[in-house]
Amino acid sequence: MRDKVLVARQVPDAFIEQLKQFSEVEVWQSELNPMPRALFLEKSKDATVVITTLSEKIDQTFFEHAKHIKGIVNLAVGFDNIDMKLATENGVIVTNTPDVLTETTAELGLTLMLTTARRIVEAARYVQEGNWKSWGPYLLAGKDVYGSVVGIYGMGSIGEALARRLQGFNCKILYHNRTRKEDSERTLNVEYRTLDELLNESDFVICTAPLTEQTKGIFNRTAFKQMKNTGVFINIGRGGHVIEDDLIEAVKSGEILGAGLDVVENEPINETHPFLDMEQIIVLPHIGSSTVQTRNKMVQLCVDNTKKILEDEEPITPVNIKKT
Ligand code: GLV
Ligand code: GLV
Repeated sequence: MRDKVLVARQVPDAFIEQLKQFSEVEVWQSELNPMPRALFLEKSKDATVVITTLSEKIDQTFFEHAKHIKGIVNLAVGFDNIDMKLATENGVIVTNTPDVLTETTAELGLTLMLTTARRIVEAARYVQEGNWKSWGPYLLAGKDVYGSVVGIYGMGSIGEALARRLQGFNCKILYHNRTRKEDSERTLNVEYRTLDELLNESDFVICTAPLTEQTKGIFNRTAFKQMKNTGVFINIGRGGHVIEDDLIEAVKSGEILGAGLDVVENEPINETHPFLDMEQIIVLPHIGSSTVQTRNKMVQLCVDNTKKILEDEEPITPVNIKKT
């Protein structure tokens, strides 16, 4: 019997056709709505590999259902939707999609910085709503990214790609990372800071880190208080890095100027979320890696990882088990 691959989200047919060459394939036929949890669990029962998105929680209940599972192929670089300890204990390989999305995600980080700093959403709405009556000396005056001090929290490949872009903006670039990256310091002209120093000195603080127990809620009241009153906070990591009530308070009370967020704690955001009533907070629907080119590369990488797992070979981008 051929192995079954469960694809938890609709992807273009060309990729499904590739999977069909070496497995049985079951695909959830919706691009925008996740598979209902009960159905996902049911369909996982006889699956050898599941191709998942951040919407699928891989936990104890999943492993109780997916008795034949060999691989979890996550369509994302982050894998905080997966209980990695359990996966490894169960001997299940987890793969992600690093590298192919680095430049695209860094570009979105820069876009958010510029958009927030130059009040682009507000400005476009101003025109759409028919408010543009004249040129004003300080009409929608924003803040320069050029020449500013930028603090990058999380100097992985996305942080580095962002630093390369910011050099073109003549920024002074600071970073904080779990481990110091002396190579990057030399090649990218970035300076290491403690988190406190980074918050104190930066005009823009941008979070690109993966979400872990250590980084959860790290952007809280204390952190925002340390930032400049003119400071802008950008998040392209995970919503869980931020205590959202503290961010709202920090912006409302003028502790910081504003924020640009590609991620929020509970996605999709509830339409009554206070962020959505705040001019100084821009929320995007988690589109960091969303260009057609990059999403194609990510899906292709998932297909290739699936093939390797089914052939008992080492996948291209494993995050836990390396076969010998
Ligand atoms: C998206 O956030 C990803 O982890 O790829
Ligand atoms: C603005 O458009 C200017 O000319 O300064």
